[in-house]
Amino acid sequence: MADWVTVALAGEMESGQVEVITVVGRRLALCNVGGEYYCIDDVCTHDGGSFDQAELDDNEIECPRHGARFDVRSGMVVSLPAVLPVKTYPVRVDGGQVQVRVDE
Ligand code: FES
Repeated sequence: MADWVTVALAGEMESGQVEVITVVGRRLALCNVGGEYYCIDDVCTHDGGSFDQAELDDNEIECPRHGARFDVRSGMVVSLPAVLPVKTYPVRVDGGQVQVRVDE
């Protein structure tokens, strides 16, 4: 099983903020939704867009390229043009550190 990797300190991201990170060679988007952290692939399933510069609306993230929306808690599509879910990754806060686990 993969190890947990520290990617941020709890409190250094504001609620509603999206931060693109790289963990074991994968680009991921870390999202702070009201103090809860979620992590998804930084690859939109519509046409490969990045969520860098994306905005969060509660638990929904909108791809800046064509406006597809996903629920960052589940990865499920909320609105077109994407039809396939985006991959999610487990996140925990341990000792004030935000950690993500990525299966290699
Ligand atoms: S690449 Fe994300 S909506 Fe098109």
